[in-house]
Amino acid sequence: MRAVDIIQKKRDGQELSSEEISYLIQGYSRGDIPDYQMSAWAMAVFFQGMTAKETGDLTMAMAKSGDQVDLSPIAGIKVDKHSTGGVGDKTTIVLAPLVAAAGVPVAKMSGRGLGHTGGTLDKLESITGFQIELDQEQFFKQVNEVGAAVIGQSGNMAPADKKLYALRDVTATVNAIPLIASSVMSKKIAAGADAIVLDVKTGSGAFMKTLDDSIKLAEAMVDIGTHVGRETVAVISDMDQPLGHGIGNALEIKEAVETLQGNGPEDLEEVSLFLASHMLVLGGKAETVEEAREKLRDILSQGLALDKLKQMVKAQQGDVSQIEDLSLLPTAKRTIEVKAPTDGYVAGIEAEAIGISAMLLGAGRETTDSVIDHAVGVTLVKKVGDPVKAGEVIAMLHANEGSDSKLQEAEQKLQQAYKISEAPVPEQPLIYALVT
Ligand code: URA
Repeated sequence: MRAVDIIQKKRDGQELSSEEISYLIQGYSRGDIPDYQMSAWAMAVFFQGMTAKETGDLTMAMAKSGDQVDLSPIAGIKVDKHSTGGVGDKTTIVLAPLVAAAGVPVAKMSGRGLGHTGGTLDKLESITGFQIELDQEQFFKQVNEVGAAVIGQSGNMAPADKKLYALRDVTATVNAIPLIASSVMSKKIAAGADAIVLDVKTGSGAFMKTLDDSIKLAEAMVDIGTHVGRETVAVISDMDQPLGHGIGNALEIKEAVETLQGNGPEDLEEVSLFLASHMLVLGGKAETVEEAREKLRDILSQGLALDKLKQMVKAQQGDVSQIEDLSLLPTAKRTIEVKAPTDGYVAGIEAEAIGISAMLLGAGRETTDSVIDHAVGVTLVKKVGDPVKAGEVIAMLHANEGSDSKLQEAEQKLQQAYKISEAPVPEQPLIYALVT
């Protein structure tokens, strides 16, 4: 077999065999196939696409390129959840204890944030002492005893994807649906869950800007999961504005805890309940999503999900008193108000600009070795649809000394992210579609 023949076959729009895809991925992982041939192949895929069978084969070849976690020592049906990424997305911190309190074991491996989206691990590390590095035995033990654990992903999970993703990033081949779908699913499959709920974000702050593309990506991922025997459903949810009000690590922990207390923002509660309901059905703890939702509402109102979060934080050596008293979480020294320039209605809040504003203050990483300040970030006081008066506070920046050099830029970004219209704006859907 020769790489050049495989590239030519794809360039000419033909379907590659499983053997040809394995040959490429294994050869590239070992370093036998050079970057220039792999980029030519990725560009051929970009233009010619891949069949469902090819996408499945690519996914499995990448999943098998590194560690594959065997979650069988954990009792029950393990259901994973994955979000394609969004600003203010703290649903994992709500979902993990909520779903665990309903009896579905949550063995979650998460990532750190880079750029304008924050990572779940960074958020959890706002809690003093919280350990995200557990060895496999401790991880399994905690999930069996507590019901939930959220830890850092193994460094050797789907390394072929890691190498190919880095190459795609610099060869303008990221935005190809079969390549994104196989990249996401290879990591989910290697992480070992029996079933997967995907939260595919759509809108200006998401990877996929249009509903049409979001549905195509969701369908491709659901197809892969189904073909490899991991039941998968995908929810398409809105990312035209950030989720909730808080953006920044400790601010997001606070909001997740408030949601578990029953006082969280409506959009965060709704997306969390929607995703959690599907996790319960896949996990065999409810027959229908309606039954699941009722169970989850009971769990929330009895404070059981909040108790579960405390148990999880304690098991991972975090300071539980910060969950009991949210004022003990890291808090920025200064808050700066941003005001509405005119009367009107909030017509849009550009999620990406809000994420960048929080990052400039120190909430996110500009490079992989940037140090995060857990206290800083942004609070969106007004959300899309809210009426505003000129001079009224629409948002706040939370800043420390470290934010000073970029404060003005962050403030400007935040101000520009808000679009104010004269006329009232129609309500936007929060959940657009379900793909099964
Ligand atoms: N996220 C991934 O993990 N892979 C992609 O290709 C795009 C987004």
